[in-house]
Amino acid sequence: MFETLRPQSPDKIIRLMQMFRDDPRMGKIDLGVGVWRNAAGQTPVMAAVKAAERHLVETQESKSYVTLAGDAGFLEAMRGLLLGDAVPAARVAAAGTPGGTGAVRQILELVRLARPDATVWISEPTWPNHPALIDTVGLRRKSYRYYDAETGALDRAGMMADLAQVGPGDVVLLHGCCHNPTGADLARDDWRQLATLLAERGSVPFVDMAYQGFGAGLEQDADGLRLIAAQVPEVLIAASCSKNFGLYRDRAGLAMAICRDAQAQGVVQGMLAWLNRQNFAFPPDHGARVVQTILGDADLRATWQSELETMRLAMDRNRAAFADALRQTTRSDRFGFLRDQRGMFSLIGIGAPAIARLREEHGIYLIEDGRMNVAGLTDSTIPVVAEAIAASI
Ligand code: LMR
Repeated sequence: MFETLRPQSPDKIIRLMQMFRDDPRMGKIDLGVGVWRNAAGQTPVMAAVKAAERHLVETQESKSYVTLAGDAGFLEAMRGLLLGDAVPAARVAAAGTPGGTGAVRQILELVRLARPDATVWISEPTWPNHPALIDTVGLRRKSYRYYDAETGALDRAGMMADLAQVGPGDVVLLHGCCHNPTGADLARDDWRQLATLLAERGSVPFVDMAYQGFGAGLEQDADGLRLIAAQVPEVLIAASCSKNFGLYRDRAGLAMAICRDAQAQGVVQGMLAWLNRQNFAFPPDHGARVVQTILGDADLRATWQSELETMRLAMDRNRAAFADALRQTTRSDRFGFLRDQRGMFSLIGIGAPAIARLREEHGIYLIEDGRMNVAGLTDSTIPVVAEAIAASI
């Protein structure tokens, strides 16, 4: 039977991870996959996570199954983190998933069951796994304009013009904060306008929240989601704890749906549990329980928030220092946009030949579309990368 298989090529992020691993050069610099790094270039386990894990080792008495939706305490704590009091708990259905990718997948499967003819609208550009998952699930997709490469800012007019065409029951995928790959985020007014538009159209926002706490702050980053949740009767959410809890390989995430009323919530809750059963039965527990332990303990939560804030500020500092270094090495302010963008990613905008030269001649790895992970820069690599970019463009 295997002769019928066609090889699938990995997406550009996974491809680059492999190329980086295979490069034997000392001093190679990884600005590809979205992983936060400290000043020494390492991705340590957060202190709050270590403490929660120690607590679990000492107190956990069983690893027997939980429920198909995962641990209720985790889901409740995450509802608070994501939504605050924007909507009554009785309208929110949720289920744990293996990371943010698992959450996106489960939500898309839910959409396909509810509305097989729905079109899912994605920003151009977006994270490569968004279109891949939509295609795998078998839904239709369309793109809406999002980013103006000339200014390094949101293409507000283009986005609103394209989204004026969404139909009833269509799904519009939005990045909650720290847009991947552009780093250009929606302002509060954009969220407000989108909420009005989507509510009028009977379309459903689908907010992918993978970087809460990496943009403007933990609460501020949830602002747009909360605003839309308060105004639009049905909202889909995929959330990841990979980045803000540094739990990458533990796969902690959740799929959430805000429903019109408690009755619909009951139906959707059952569907999310059923979908989990079809795909992997019980979601991974360890990372979710670490998150619940942290969020449920005042001291651990304070430690975690301060660590997260340190990471966020380091990214902002990297952005400013890198933009300054590039101004010096290129004698232009063409990279000034890096300062204003948010989160781990920006599109550097230097073209494919320069990206290839950076990789081949300097051992500096950026995604082929020019996405760079600014959280991967350190004080010592900033001048090196800035020099190499000036030499490669
Ligand atoms: C990224 O965009 O680099 C991360 O979200 C990792 C991934 O799964 O692609």
